[in-house]
Amino acid sequence: MNILQLLRERFAQALQNLGVEDPQRWAEHVVVAREERFGHYQANLAMPLARVLKRPPRQIAQQIVEHLPVQDICHQVEVAGPGFINLRLAVEFLQRQLLTLKNDPRLGVPQTAHPRTIVIDYSAPNVAKPMHVGHIRSTVLGDCLYRVLKFLGHRVIGDNHIGDWGTQFGMILFGYKHLRDPQRWEQAPVEELARLYRLVNQLITYHQKRQQLPQLEKQLVLAQEQLQQLQNQPEPASGPEAKKHRRHLRRLQAQVQELQAQVQQLQETLAQVENDPQLASLAQRWPNLEQLVLQETAKLHAGDEENRRLWEQFMPPCLEVLQRIYRRLGVQFDVTLGESFYHDRLPGVVQELLELGIAQESQGAVCVFLPDQQAPFVIRKSDGAFLYSTTDLATIQYRMERWAPDAILYVVDHRQSLHFQQLFATARLWAKRLQQLGRRSPLTKLLQTELTHVSFGTILGPDGKPFRTRAGDTVGLESLLEEAVEHALRIVSQNDEAKPHGPELSPEQRRRVAEAVGIGAIKYADLSHHRTSDYVFSYEKMMSTTGNTATYMQYAYARIRSILRRGQVDVQALRESPQEPMLEHPLEQQLAWTLLRFPEALEEVVQDYRPNLLTNYLFEDLATCFTAFYETCPVLQAPEGPTRYTRLVLCDLTAQVIRKGLELLGIEVVEQM
Ligand code: ARG
Repeated sequence: MNILQLLRERFAQALQNLGVEDPQRWAEHVVVAREERFGHYQANLAMPLARVLKRPPRQIAQQIVEHLPVQDICHQVEVAGPGFINLRLAVEFLQRQLLTLKNDPRLGVPQTAHPRTIVIDYSAPNVAKPMHVGHIRSTVLGDCLYRVLKFLGHRVIGDNHIGDWGTQFGMILFGYKHLRDPQRWEQAPVEELARLYRLVNQLITYHQKRQQLPQLEKQLVLAQEQLQQLQNQPEPASGPEAKKHRRHLRRLQAQVQELQAQVQQLQETLAQVENDPQLASLAQRWPNLEQLVLQETAKLHAGDEENRRLWEQFMPPCLEVLQRIYRRLGVQFDVTLGESFYHDRLPGVVQELLELGIAQESQGAVCVFLPDQQAPFVIRKSDGAFLYSTTDLATIQYRMERWAPDAILYVVDHRQSLHFQQLFATARLWAKRLQQLGRRSPLTKLLQTELTHVSFGTILGPDGKPFRTRAGDTVGLESLLEEAVEHALRIVSQNDEAKPHGPELSPEQRRRVAEAVGIGAIKYADLSHHRTSDYVFSYEKMMSTTGNTATYMQYAYARIRSILRRGQVDVQALRESPQEPMLEHPLEQQLAWTLLRFPEALEEVVQDYRPNLLTNYLFEDLATCFTAFYETCPVLQAPEGPTRYTRLVLCDLTAQVIRKGLELLGIEVVEQM
């Protein structure tokens, strides 16, 4: 049961009886109390309501309380100050709830009364480009949202929209044909493709930067001249003029510095190629590499036999590498429909948008001009090529046809936010036009469908810049996972060896624990940060045994399990016992209430798609509360009878909620660490 929801329902009843309009919305004002002294929940709605009803807030609060049917839930309801309503739960209520909770496999989490069909678009790496840490964030966040929404009773479809059709294939095709190392290709095809991708990409970037350099240098000279001029001018003695002068000077100085840094960076990139005889000669050999690569992509898309055959040859080993990572992460998808799957739909999409007058030709390209958007949404280039945008429109069309979802969530990093704004606006226009024309199309339902870009920030290295290895590559995900597990193995082994009665784990067990700890740490670090913020990647931090980490939560779980083992508790019997727990100590009551708030935490997670609200709940609320309880209330030492029974129930329930909570984050627990 969700207590908060229950209280809101009761408030809505009271408000309705008082003749208040829109009682459900007003009932949203009921929240968890900000401070313990206010009780468990509070409702600060009398003040805003007073403005509507034009009566004093305290009077309104009194009236609500008089009409509030919560005698079965609350021990005390009081009106405080100018009209705050504070609610304190009755101990009998907590006890009764605990009795049902302790043997409930859903741990009190109700199935939603309004199941929705939700497509989640996550992970979506680009095949044949090395998968990097940016993709882990999408994978981990998406997987968690998938698990939570499903557990709440929604119909969820996990769709891995892999990039298997983009320009990177032009690079790989070109690289394969002209730069392949036959031996490496035989031994490790996927690594060879990734190498070819990097190589071709580096050469293309080289040519682009070469072209940019003169322009940038010109800008620098100009800025330097301006600065010089200003410095030569006599400085105004004082007053606003002097201030303005100094400000201007500072701005120019900053500009010169910035440009200098840019020029230097450019030159370094160029030098990397020019100082390497092999790279330099390749760069010379293909000055128009970018065009050549585009041609390869275009040929692939146009159905060229050789390129198609090669593409089909590249795909299986690439997908196998991805699968290996997903297996290790414990992530599954319902469908994997990559960009190539939508290829045949693209001409039709552009055609339809042109016909409906949503898209227009502009300088040879086909564009959608959106209100309040400076840049148009280009859906076909002047050379006839389709884009990422076109595929995404076709994907929406397909998803509406196949699942008619109530929501589509795109778990993609924040740099793509403009793309999604434009995509959603275009798709909505499209659906709207179809509806206006009275056409029967699955797309028209889109007008009621939620489209959300679940955006997230960047993973940073210790230097505060996007996480990369020393070589400057984005870190390969596989080596990252392996390193995490090795780090975990050291921690687990040290910890095991330091045990008072000697080590308890076999090498095999240590490995298994290390896998759960290492992978769990990476996931938890990701999920525990607010998704839109950047964070610094650090193995030490993410496996700290004292902070808000998976490792800490896994220890907490294992510790409770070991208490139950030491006490030789028959956990099944404990759960099935019809005896009502007896909550005497305030810390027992506090823990019971915290356990009962698990459903509230999950509801909060899906409101704005924020898994960090679940990690916050597990760490800050549950683990903290349990520690306080366990330090004060002896469990195994408690005398046989209701006290010991209640405390064992609280221990077992805490372990169950931690386990379920971590499972919803995609993290495993171990019985012993
Ligand atoms: N493959 C893209 C990338 O790595 C992400 C795709 C996200 N999903 C989508 N429907 N656009 O940047």
